[in-house]
Amino acid sequence: MNNIDAAASDTDDQPLKGSPVPSNCSTFNNASDSLLERFQLLDKILSSHRRYWQLRPFSMLDLPWRHSNPELCHWLEDQPLQTLESNDQQLQELITCLSPFIEGIEQFHELCLLPQNTFQQQDLPAWLGNHIPGRKWQQIQAFEQITARPQLPVLEWCAGKGHLGRLISFQRQVAVQSLELNTQLCSHGQSLADKRHLPIKFVNQDALAAEAASYLGKNQHAVALHACGDLHLQLIKLASQKGTQNISVSPCCYHLIQEDRYAPLSAAAQLSNLRLDHHDLRLPLQETVTAPKRTEQMKQQEVSWRLGFDLLQRNLRNCNQYLNTPSLPKHLLKGCFRDYCHWIGEKKALEIPDNTDFSYYQQAGYDRYPLIRKIERVRHLYRRPLELWLVLDRALYLQQQGYQVSISEFCQRHLTPRNVLIEATARF
Ligand SMILES: C[S@@+](CC[C@H](N)C(=O)[O-])C[C@H]1O[C@@H](n2cnc3c(N)ncnc32)[C@H](O)[C@@H]1O
Repeated sequence: MNNIDAAASDTDDQPLKGSPVPSNCSTFNNASDSLLERFQLLDKILSSHRRYWQLRPFSMLDLPWRHSNPELCHWLEDQPLQTLESNDQQLQELITCLSPFIEGIEQFHELCLLPQNTFQQQDLPAWLGNHIPGRKWQQIQAFEQITARPQLPVLEWCAGKGHLGRLISFQRQVAVQSLELNTQLCSHGQSLADKRHLPIKFVNQDALAAEAASYLGKNQHAVALHACGDLHLQLIKLASQKGTQNISVSPCCYHLIQEDRYAPLSAAAQLSNLRLDHHDLRLPLQETVTAPKRTEQMKQQEVSWRLGFDLLQRNLRNCNQYLNTPSLPKHLLKGCFRDYCHWIGEKKALEIPDNTDFSYYQQAGYDRYPLIRKIERVRHLYRRPLELWLVLDRALYLQQQGYQVSISEFCQRHLTPRNVLIEATARF
């Protein structure tokens, strides 16, 4: 592809001119240059569109694009809350409704398109799936079916109870070492494996401690299903240092990193202008597969109360700035708004006068709720593109370390939105 440079002069906060994606972009594949090109195109759009997604909706009292994009604001204002609450999950739907107002986003469709693995239902003994919730069991089967089968001993990283390791060991007749921090999960997992005489050994080990490296070796297949932030980053770094033959990782919880800012792994991402903090890194996770009605109502209440408290604290502190609030115990939402405010007030050393009109602020929070949903509607368009940016950073890093790398969707989104698989095979 030759027109990556077409977008190279776009600066931050300016819409992209024209489409830098070539007409044959549906041929994006896992060839090494293709991964890099895809990353660079995503990086270009994400960087130049920062004003649409790198912001904190909760701190806003109005749509932030009044001057820069009034047409978008008019359209958002006309959207009923019901519409904003629905149709928010699918990238294509977001592209369709927002592309008249935001240039360049049509490209996301193809930039985010990954090979989808087709899962074949298997005839497995029932005991293998016992103890595993339905959707998780399907994810595990899909992951096992799709990943490489090099007939090497397996290291399962952050194994939980080792459900994946048990299936791998049964299906491939290989030894599995399951590394896990939680002692109870280790003993539960070990007894499940022992019951069936499977060659599985749990290791009670902190994956982030220096000793964890000693469990990785060359002739090995390292697997990690939904290891959070630093945990899967650590595996990618350690395994590639050790020259581990096969690495299969499905990342999740990108924001669970110890550092305040994301430290890109690959040379390409290190050149990027993007600086990502925890709040940004949470964006790809802002989607649920199916939320029951009750959960949605709770969410609306939680957000509205938070917004109501925000207005109260702005008045009390005489300061028109959002105040970060601690994460709340859920039981507070079953009580009343007054107690909720007092609880946060105590945590933030903020005195709330007895004569406060709590019902006013509670209602004001509910009135502000649609604004947040409007801002999020736009922000959500960038969830998957940002996730792909992060995935590609990991993939490109592995390439740099001498691996043949592919990315795909190991299962359908309705089983889990964290459905990306990075597969790396040593070429050295
Ligand atoms: C999201 S769960 C995934 C478990 C399993 N892979 C699965 O998909 O069912 C993450 C696991 O990482 C474990 N974990 C968290 N911190 C860890 C650490 N520092 N070292 C090793 N394991 C850790 C947790 O106890 C948990 O079992």
